[in-house]
Amino acid sequence: MFYEKCLKPGLFLLDPERAHNWATFGLKALSRMGPVVQILRRCNQVRQEKPIHLFGLEFPNAVGLAAGMDKNAEFPKAAAALGFGHVEVGAVTPLRQTGNPMPRLFRYPDSGALVNRMGFNNDGADAIAERLARWYPVGSRSAPLGINLGKGRSTELDHAASDYLTVFKVLADQADYFSINVSSPNTPGLRRLQDTDFLRPLLQELQKENKERANLMGSAKAPILVKLSPDISYRQLDQALEIILETECAGVIATNTSSSRSFSGTEKYESGGISGLPVRLRSTQFINYVSRSTEGKLPIIGVGGVDDPVSAGEKIDAGASLVQIYTGMVYKGPFLAKQIAKALRNRSSSWF
Ligand SMILES: Cc1cc2nc3c(=O)[nH]c(=O)nc-3n(C[C@H](O)[C@H](O)[C@H](O)COP(=O)(O)O)c2cc1C
Repeated sequence: MFYEKCLKPGLFLLDPERAHNWATFGLKALSRMGPVVQILRRCNQVRQEKPIHLFGLEFPNAVGLAAGMDKNAEFPKAAAALGFGHVEVGAVTPLRQTGNPMPRLFRYPDSGALVNRMGFNNDGADAIAERLARWYPVGSRSAPLGINLGKGRSTELDHAASDYLTVFKVLADQADYFSINVSSPNTPGLRRLQDTDFLRPLLQELQKENKERANLMGSAKAPILVKLSPDISYRQLDQALEIILETECAGVIATNTSSSRSFSGTEKYESGGISGLPVRLRSTQFINYVSRSTEGKLPIIGVGGVDDPVSAGEKIDAGASLVQIYTGMVYKGPFLAKQIAKALRNRSSSWF
């Protein structure tokens, strides 16, 4: 209520990226205020009676923050204190990059959508590893941390695997899970990495490094999930799932934004990836397909158009174990995760 009545009107007067930067500034400042963030966490954290155990991790509730909101890992602590049950930061590339020219983020309030063509603007793996070690270190976390990996804009597809490997190695000590982003529409060619010829060697190399590292450290392998595009065909999805299972990945994140303009009313939208309500159904159908074709064996994190308990429940009914939100939070405010997580907790007996 406070957000929609007081904060949102002001933020929505600003250019969307500027509003995002102000929100990031506020959340980052909050993350640095130890006692305040503690109190906030005590007030907002939603713990299910039975926490969710997935790929070796414990999630206090089912609602996470989707990648792209905190690209530079500036506020995972504040996000966890707002009620998120996990936080995914990034996408992170090996080196700092500025992304595409502005404007590159657009709101469509009438349809509850955003379009972005950010292009992996981020501070680079080393700076982000340092920041996480300082401000959200392993051992202090109230919600697991996922790290979304991308490739540098100028890296040829044939060398993409080495970018993912570099970021994996730099951030391996910080991540609770990794999300391999081969589905952003805003880095030219990136989505071709979902094709068999690229995906298989990419995941094989990452898992080889993952296994060697685990042996060396005497620890378990890090869970590696693959984030997929809602725009691929079911044939392509079948092939991708085969590789994901064969390489023993921990799960799938479904889905990223869509560059399709076949959703009603989106024909004239800016170029870039659509998120929010227009992709809700497509993403749920995608989850349903993954769940059925893998006979529920592959954990799924469902994302795309979740903005209330019903849309979250829909994804869980379709086969997702966890959900994530981004666009819903822009329209409905910072306490949306808490509200949805509470509602899911009350209905959780039929879902978990
Ligand atoms: C501005 C913006 C930036 C994003 N950046 C990333 C990113 O870096 N990596 C990624 O995997 N997904 C990224 N996403 C996609 C979201 O994580 C999510 O998959 C998508 O927005 C659908 O969820 P939603 O409808 O709740 O927003 C971004 C989305 C937006 C709106």
